[in-house]
Amino acid sequence: LSFYKFHCTYCSWESSPSANVVKCETCKDPIFIKYMENPSNTFQPSYSNVTMPLPLTKSDDLITLGEGNTPIVKMNRVSEMVGIDTIGKLEYMNPTGSFKDRGSAIMISALADFNIKEIVEDSSGNAGASISAYGAKAGIKTHIFTPSTTPLPKLNQINIYGAVNHSISGTRDETTEAALKYARETGMPYASHNLSPYFIEGTKSFAYEVYSQLGLDMPTDIIIPVGNGSLYLGMWKGFNELVDNGELTSIPRLHCVQARAVMPIAMAMENKSWTPADATPTRAGGIAVSSPPRLGQVIKVLTISGGSVITVEEEEIGQAQIQLSRYEGIFGEPTSAAALAGLQKLTQKKVIKSGSKVLMPITGFGLKDKMPE
Ligand SMILES: Cc1ncc(COP(=O)(O)O)c(C=O)c1O
Ligand SMILES: [Zn+2]
Repeated sequence: LSFYKFHCTYCSWESSPSANVVKCETCKDPIFIKYMENPSNTFQPSYSNVTMPLPLTKSDDLITLGEGNTPIVKMNRVSEMVGIDTIGKLEYMNPTGSFKDRGSAIMISALADFNIKEIVEDSSGNAGASISAYGAKAGIKTHIFTPSTTPLPKLNQINIYGAVNHSISGTRDETTEAALKYARETGMPYASHNLSPYFIEGTKSFAYEVYSQLGLDMPTDIIIPVGNGSLYLGMWKGFNELVDNGELTSIPRLHCVQARAVMPIAMAMENKSWTPADATPTRAGGIAVSSPPRLGQVIKVLTISGGSVITVEEEEIGQAQIQLSRYEGIFGEPTSAAALAGLQKLTQKKVIKSGSKVLMPITGFGLKDKMPE
């Protein structure tokens, strides 16, 4: 494993890779993977026209369920509604119905490479379902901690794949605490999609794929529902690699959408204080993350990418979910629909100006969650 290292972008700490390390051992910031110059291990996954560095020794090491290759569709009526050309990338067409499969494929493949047999993870449902599926494929036993409010379809997925589900009657953050405690007590790796640098190596394929599908007709703006930022930061890393290897000269502005009910990133961006005690319930369970461990990294990317954060109300999320379905035939879960609610506000505020070209990932499938009231 000499072709990549664990790297802290905050204090420059580096170490050789391990299944058990997810944070910098000096400053505690969550880490990234850094490849050596000219890594010999670049892959050309089926979904990318260009090679992509991955933390796997050979392509046979990739544990795949056919993730990626998700379609991009025009959204004509949404474009008309907001007055901006908008396209959607249907991430719900991934094997377990959400973008998380991109991250799980690489994280589970890497853990299998370390010969890990049992892992702990906490999730609002989608990441848990996804990691359970890839764990099943890899023969890795998964312990998935979920809040007791997790929608039944996501729990059904976790259970059918044979994961051990630990239901926690508490908040999303208390669920994380319980998972961490269990990992500490049992000594199993905490394979958290919020922290694992491998997960981000998987989600970065989103950027490679957008470039492969659209070429130089790239979007000017991408709007992403953000809780922990695994898709947001993965996309940023992927686009940066494409700039570094000379494929792209610029990166779309990456905007974050948060529910007003749980808005640590929005408040941090305005230098305002916000604590988990300020959180209220939201139908956008996927982004109900009160203390995202990669908050500082998301703020940094927002600042340098020229992106913005927008918060949306519960009614706006519900309405956007219905609009997506009725105008476009796209049934996304409420967390995914939050992106459309955010797009409407960003165009009204003229943060996104006419002439822009917007791309929205539809991150999770509607049948995974509760129906709009
Ligand atoms: C459907 C959906 N969209 C977006 C997100 C946000 O992803 P992240 O927490 O990595 O920012 C999630 C996370 O669970 C999700 O389930
Ligand atoms: Zn550090």
